[in-house]
Amino acid sequence: MMRLDKYLSHAGYGTRTQVKALIKKGLVSVNEIVIYKDDKKIDETLDEIIVDGEKSDYQKFIYIMLHKPDGVISSNYDPYHKTTKDLIPLYDHYKTFPVGRLDIDTEGLLILTNDGLLAHQLLSPKYHVDKTYYVEFSGDFKQIYFELFKTGITIDDGYLCMPSKIELIDTNKAYLTIKEGKFHQVKRMFLALDMTVTYLRRVTFGPIKLDESLKKGSHRLLTESEINLLKVAVK
Ligand code: URA
Repeated sequence: MMRLDKYLSHAGYGTRTQVKALIKKGLVSVNEIVIYKDDKKIDETLDEIIVDGEKSDYQKFIYIMLHKPDGVISSNYDPYHKTTKDLIPLYDHYKTFPVGRLDIDTEGLLILTNDGLLAHQLLSPKYHVDKTYYVEFSGDFKQIYFELFKTGITIDDGYLCMPSKIELIDTNKAYLTIKEGKFHQVKRMFLALDMTVTYLRRVTFGPIKLDESLKKGSHRLLTESEINLLKVAVK
């Protein structure tokens, strides 16, 4: 059982203040009775809640796409820096966490969820989920590097990375697709070839593309079809 306003807020209808306003306007009914009391106790698993004419489904799991900006830590807590959690306060109660990490200075697509199983599978080396990065770098990109990225680059700790795909789009700009997520992997792959990454943005995560209409620092929920695509990617 929980309060109606809390339920509505958890279900994504807005902040507590916003959902209280919906209730006050008579837009919310519970089991076909319009409710004006925001502290009405409801059973979220049994009661039928209608909001503005539409049945509300209680979501246990939530999936968020964040356009992570520079300067933000992929974490729920940090004593010194802004965190990804600070960027999505509306969904605090869902207790989401980032699916993998982007470095503080890396921008782009980050998925956050409270679906631990799916997150675990997406990060598991077993499924080899592709991640594509837009990379700007300094240093000379030599012809032979195409082959090295394709066969596997050995990084500073002696680890041989899995084969990757590089697409050079300008002298010092490329798209790189990797199947793993080792710490600072892209930067270390470039460093192993005497090149330094100067800007990094993740543009895809498995089947999901960064929504270009999302401004840096903003987020949206994944659509049903995006969630399904993610689930299919780890089947
Ligand atoms: N590789 C990196 O070096 N940094 C990231 O944030 C992601 C991949």
